[in-house]
Amino acid sequence: MKQAFEYDLAFSRNIGWFTESEQQVLKSKRVAIAGMGGVGGSHLLTLLRLGITKFHLSDFDEFACENTNRQAGANIETYDKKKLDTMVEMAQSINPEVEIECFPEGINPSNVDAFLQNVDCYVDSLDFFALDARIMVFKSCSEKSIPATTAAPIGMGTAYLNFLPGKMTFEEYFGLNGFSENEQYLKFFLGLTPAALQKSYLVDPSKLDLAGKKGPSTIVGCQLAAGVTATQVAKIFLNRGKVLNVPWGLHFDAYTNQYKKTWRPGGYKNPIQRLAFILGKKMFLADKPIPPSTKAKALTTAEQVLNYARWAPSGDNSQCWRFKLIDDTSFIVLATDTREHVVYDLDGHSSHLAHGIILETIDIAATKFGLTTQVNSDFTDETQVKITVKLIKDESTLESNLVPFIKLRAVQRRAMGTRLLTTNEKHELEQSIPEGFSIQWFESFSDKKAMAKLNFCNAKTRLTMKEAFAVHQEIIEWKAQFSETKIPEQALGVDWVTARLMQWMFKSWDRIKFSNKYLAGTILPRIQLDFIPSLKSCAHFAIVADNKISSAEEYVVAGRAIQRFWLTTAKLGLGFQPEQTPVIFARYLNNNINFTSDTNVVENAKKGKKMFENIVSNSENTVFLGRIGRSELPKSRSTRLPLDKLIIE
Ligand SMILES: Cc1cc2nc3c(=O)[nH]c(=O)nc-3n(C[C@H](O)[C@H](O)[C@H](O)COP(=O)(O)O)c2cc1C
Repeated sequence: MKQAFEYDLAFSRNIGWFTESEQQVLKSKRVAIAGMGGVGGSHLLTLLRLGITKFHLSDFDEFACENTNRQAGANIETYDKKKLDTMVEMAQSINPEVEIECFPEGINPSNVDAFLQNVDCYVDSLDFFALDARIMVFKSCSEKSIPATTAAPIGMGTAYLNFLPGKMTFEEYFGLNGFSENEQYLKFFLGLTPAALQKSYLVDPSKLDLAGKKGPSTIVGCQLAAGVTATQVAKIFLNRGKVLNVPWGLHFDAYTNQYKKTWRPGGYKNPIQRLAFILGKKMFLADKPIPPSTKAKALTTAEQVLNYARWAPSGDNSQCWRFKLIDDTSFIVLATDTREHVVYDLDGHSSHLAHGIILETIDIAATKFGLTTQVNSDFTDETQVKITVKLIKDESTLESNLVPFIKLRAVQRRAMGTRLLTTNEKHELEQSIPEGFSIQWFESFSDKKAMAKLNFCNAKTRLTMKEAFAVHQEIIEWKAQFSETKIPEQALGVDWVTARLMQWMFKSWDRIKFSNKYLAGTILPRIQLDFIPSLKSCAHFAIVADNKISSAEEYVVAGRAIQRFWLTTAKLGLGFQPEQTPVIFARYLNNNINFTSDTNVVENAKKGKKMFENIVSNSENTVFLGRIGRSELPKSRSTRLPLDKLIIE
């Protein structure tokens, strides 16, 4: 027979940490929770399982797909349903005796008194940006002598503050009155997290957008916040343990393994808080227009496939393609090259490789939608290749296991972990490329040293060649973490000082000449970018064609092989760095392509070519050279132009 709910039994495992009498006290208490979203849902469930049976709950919003990562009530069954109704149902299914008074219109001046009537504690879980409501509720709590607590989910930790009757109030601590909306958000944020333990691992600061009313949040933070809040509430109700009041605050961060108690006497008037406010205004609020809210328009099948495929890599993030839609399931890839202005692409083959890469990416992306592709290429004009792609429904098509890595794959130019590739890893990588190509591995220390010397020598060719100077000047977005059309500085793999030196040098050719002559200007970047990371890798590799390739069409086929290999490294969780310029200069020398007017540079390139030929057997058939290492995902990377900018009429 199905067991019936019985309060004492249901919460009997709390006993030990609480006495039976204390459990009865918890049972008798009433908690008000404003907001059933990010953290409010977790608060309710945690307090409920603590044995609290009386609640006043408010929320006017519905669950949506983007709540899935953190909101206790969000699942595919509850999208578009009222958060409040969902959470009440969940609460009743845990404790059928629960008494809940609902405030489905949210909290406003006309119902705040009712919301707080007979309440023993207020738990804040309003949306971060609902500051007017928050100020009003906290003020009312203070007037009614109701203890209030707020635990903010911050990254993978929680920062929490208590406001007990008769002590420093919310307004005295945060001092929000009289400030603009954005300044209030900033002051609230700074007051919540004086220890700022999260700042070391916020990998994409642009996602913390106070002006745009958006911030990242994880379930880890929400669950920790709920645990902490329930503990504060229990201590307040049972008059046990020390409950801190602002200006004391506590921040626990599970990611950094840190726990910090903060003390800001005077609250917002404290000099540290004032300074943080001045700096924060510069960092978060300066020149940031509030973006208009945009609702994503539904994409056609062709657009959905292209939206994945646009993440294909291209030399220097040139994105040497545009798309022309024919109908919902077919389009043309207009594949251009950069030979006019890029010395690494004088025969267009670097771009042709990228064209193969995007075609392979389109094929892989299509499998996500149960589609195959029919591709028709027109190579009449090699500088303007026209590739018509038709997407065809095919019931037997299974989603490729490389699909999830289309967007994740990125260059890792920094030093990586050196643990050797396992036999299985090498086997999977070798299997990833089609017939007609094979892999040569360079894994021993002496192999890696030879590669390091080759890359060091080759970097001298690149950095002392006037013809490459204009390219380097163009392709780096200085001081950036992400770049839509270039390579962001932080993805280069050099430290801040070297980056500044490079930025200074790249201002004019005279500066390069000067620093090469007197300051050994290229040495530092070459050591950091080429020599050290070449050693700090698991293996270097060459993708070698069985037969020598020379036409644009053959380079496109090679590009397809490269992308399968590259995506497979991402699938294996390995970092990947192309080392393609030695291949390019060797080809130029073999084919008598004049790439520089500087004879010293030619001599150095010849030296590099010899080194390359000594390392890679069959070097003339090499289509791609690179290195692989154990690595986390790069924190900085090139992003891509949005789809609407890549689609042309
Ligand atoms: C054919 C080809 C050759 C490349 N050669 C180099 C190279 O020699 N050195 C390098 O640092 N990156 C090289 N890259 C990497 C691109 O700069 C990079 O893919 C692009 O900036 C996009 O960044 P992402 O791959 O991180 O998305 C190459 C990419 C392609 C497709």
